[in-house]
Amino acid sequence: MIYYFSGTGNSRYIAEQLADKMTDRATFIPTADFNGYTDVIGFVFPIYSWGVPPIVLDFIESLPHCENRNIYSYMVATCGDDIGLSTEMLRDALTKKGITLNAAFSVQMPNTYVLLPGFDVDSTEVENKKLKAAEQRINEIANILNSRKEVIDVTKGSIPWLKTKVVYPLFTKYGIDTKKWHTTIDCTGCGMCSKICPVSNISIVDGHPKWGKQCVSCTACYHTCPHNAIKYGNLTTTKGQYRTLIKKSFK
Ligand SMILES: Cc1cc2nc3c(=O)[nH]c(=O)nc-3n(C[C@H](O)[C@H](O)[C@H](O)COP(=O)(O)O)c2cc1C
Ligand code: SF4
Ligand code: SF4
Repeated sequence: MIYYFSGTGNSRYIAEQLADKMTDRATFIPTADFNGYTDVIGFVFPIYSWGVPPIVLDFIESLPHCENRNIYSYMVATCGDDIGLSTEMLRDALTKKGITLNAAFSVQMPNTYVLLPGFDVDSTEVENKKLKAAEQRINEIANILNSRKEVIDVTKGSIPWLKTKVVYPLFTKYGIDTKKWHTTIDCTGCGMCSKICPVSNISIVDGHPKWGKQCVSCTACYHTCPHNAIKYGNLTTTKGQYRTLIKKSFK
């Protein structure tokens, strides 16, 4: 079984491709119904601030202790650039459940992080290049996983310790301020942002979105709005949107 989380569709795309090439099933973590361990278990997710998204760690935390010693487990992390020490973070979470992490991969995909100054979506050229390279990468990963090899093939990037051990904890504590989400007059009340939110954090009230407190900062609402009417404080005023795979991301 492949358990995945995805806001803007990148990780969902990879999870579904892998499921197809491995004759397995991909299950969305927010709606997953755990029915016991299978012999092969995969986790596919985006990197958030050089770490594993808390929603993925919470899901693993909720699993029962694994008694199957022969289980083969792997992770595939999608990222804009690099993943820091996320492999170690996931390995620690799995070890607590009695699961050994046998293989880990990172795949560069179009960037979705726009909530801080200096971060924006990729140019169309970079986006296309990443998506093209990902096709080949998925085939390579599926081949390795199908032969149950023990492989760690991830891009940690520079100063990984600082990014994962110092920046990630700050992100989980202060990374999202749900009060900053708002809409411009371009909002038509279509409700797409509400439908896409993986944690049902947006309700439509009087024809306009209202954000609750459960935001996991996936940015799916921001990128999905067909009128680019969603803003995060004044930090996204000039930022682009990434919508290539998001259409497939609805629950
Ligand atoms: C909150 C947040 C934090 C992110 N942090 C990182 C990061 O530390 N390193 C990186 O390379 N990409 C980072 N990204 C980019 C995503 O990991 C990347 O675009 C991913 O493929 C998105 O996956 P999804 O479409 O399945 O949600 C971040 C994106 C978000 C929304
Ligand atoms: S997707 Fe955009 S236009 Fe539609 S309700 Fe949400 S903010 Fe408004
Ligand atoms: S409200 Fe938060 S969790 Fe929901 S789609 Fe927007 S960024 Fe993602």
